[in-house]
Amino acid sequence: MENQIFIFDTTLRDGEQVPGCQLNTVEKIEVAKALETLGVDVIEAGFPVSSPGDFQSVEEISKAVTQPTICALTRAVKKDIEVAAESLKFAKKPRIHTGIGTSYFHITHKLNSNRDEIITRAVEAVKYAKKFVDDVEFFAEDAGRTENEYLARVIEAVVKAGATVLNIPDTTGYCLPEEYGAKIKFLKENVKGIHKAIISTHCHNDLGLATANTIMGIINGARQVEVTLNGIGERAGNTSLEEVTMIMKSHNDLPFKTGINSKKIYATSRLVSTLMRMPVQANKAIVGRNAFAHSSGIHQDGVLKKRENYEIIDPTDIGIKESSIVLTARSGRAAIKHRLEILGYEITSDELNKVYHQFLILADKKKDIKDEDLKVLIGKSTKEENPMKLDLLQVVCGKSTIPMATVRLKINGDVHSATASGNGPIDAAFSAVKQLIKKKVRLEEFLIQAITRGSDDMGKVHVQIENRGKLFYGFSANTDIITASVEAFVDAISKCYNK
Ligand code: KIV
Ligand code: ZN
Repeated sequence: MENQIFIFDTTLRDGEQVPGCQLNTVEKIEVAKALETLGVDVIEAGFPVSSPGDFQSVEEISKAVTQPTICALTRAVKKDIEVAAESLKFAKKPRIHTGIGTSYFHITHKLNSNRDEIITRAVEAVKYAKKFVDDVEFFAEDAGRTENEYLARVIEAVVKAGATVLNIPDTTGYCLPEEYGAKIKFLKENVKGIHKAIISTHCHNDLGLATANTIMGIINGARQVEVTLNGIGERAGNTSLEEVTMIMKSHNDLPFKTGINSKKIYATSRLVSTLMRMPVQANKAIVGRNAFAHSSGIHQDGVLKKRENYEIIDPTDIGIKESSIVLTARSGRAAIKHRLEILGYEITSDELNKVYHQFLILADKKKDIKDEDLKVLIGKSTKEENPMKLDLLQVVCGKSTIPMATVRLKINGDVHSATASGNGPIDAAFSAVKQLIKKKVRLEEFLIQAITRGSDDMGKVHVQIENRGKLFYGFSANTDIITASVEAFVDAISKCYNK
């Protein structure tokens, strides 16, 4: 199909290279299976020669996943190619991804070589990989900074050698969208035999242009895009899967299709973030916590009148149940009326005006207003402002100590305490809190941030929990990050009690 765009996911290779994001084989299989369910066409499962662990992961993913092509990365080195081929022996659809640097910097300062020799090595690598598998992808590393005429010579040579996919990486994220699009067009128009292969984009985000460059690549003839979930990857990351697929889905003026089941995007994004312990920035397009949250009065009013006034994507299309209206001091009457209606209360305009005035006074004091607060404001509840409060926290931790925590919570005025152990003081305290609550909650996101870099800094903690399929957000800030963490957790739990 001319307009079918193949999704090549490199979360488990380029994404996994990120410091702190390493996964073990079991975790990689879990991600690979989720990627299969999401509908990606190719999974780049690793760089097998780099470590026995990577080899094992590629081998196990090849056994566990059957629909997508499984791809293994190599340098243009015989040993790498042999090891990759061995790791792919169980794959139903194996692909070797081999390549070499083609820019002046790479040829001169990394490979200490010259242009003709690079072409010879590229051709040898492709021919050697073809001895093991039919499907061979070639990458021209740093193609973004490679002069187009020379790049065309390299690509023509590897097409002749049998490459089935031609990866044109903007390795350093340098290209402007027009420039990258023109590069793809130039190759399409000037490389003999290029129609026999698929052109692939692989863009890095050093200047924040990875997604724009990828889209320009597609418009100019690329039919495969190399992407990662949440845009993770070397340095500033890679093109994000969710952005590219949702651009194609949202823009009817772009005639492209993918096999991605967009309703699985959010769950897969959460899985990758959790397993890689890599938080997603709150304002990240498509999957960030605030991507469908409306907090200003004008926007809330507009979105309540018609969702499309301020949303170009229906959150259910990516697997999020609904947009959220966050009640803050910036909210307007429409949002309060709407929230009260959801809670089952109809009020007149006069009552609304009165409640709104009181609401603003309270909202200036509190970060966000809960349902219970609203009920108190309209006189439907006399419960104290916050039904659940952290009253006492005591932790024991340190080297050669089993971390323990005692937590005392005030729940609707009654005092409850519990003690628990854990793999650290925060885990112990969270376990103690869970013993005291009647609801089953699952921690979805936990983010601690320092504001400045000093050891006396305030720690800001954001927590997201899930209860019966709904997400609740909690926040706290404190110079003691353990206290801030438990307060944020309790804050989130108290919101699900107020539902
Ligand atoms: O960014 C890059 O050039 C790469 C190649 C190894 C494909 O990741
Ligand atoms: Zn890369």
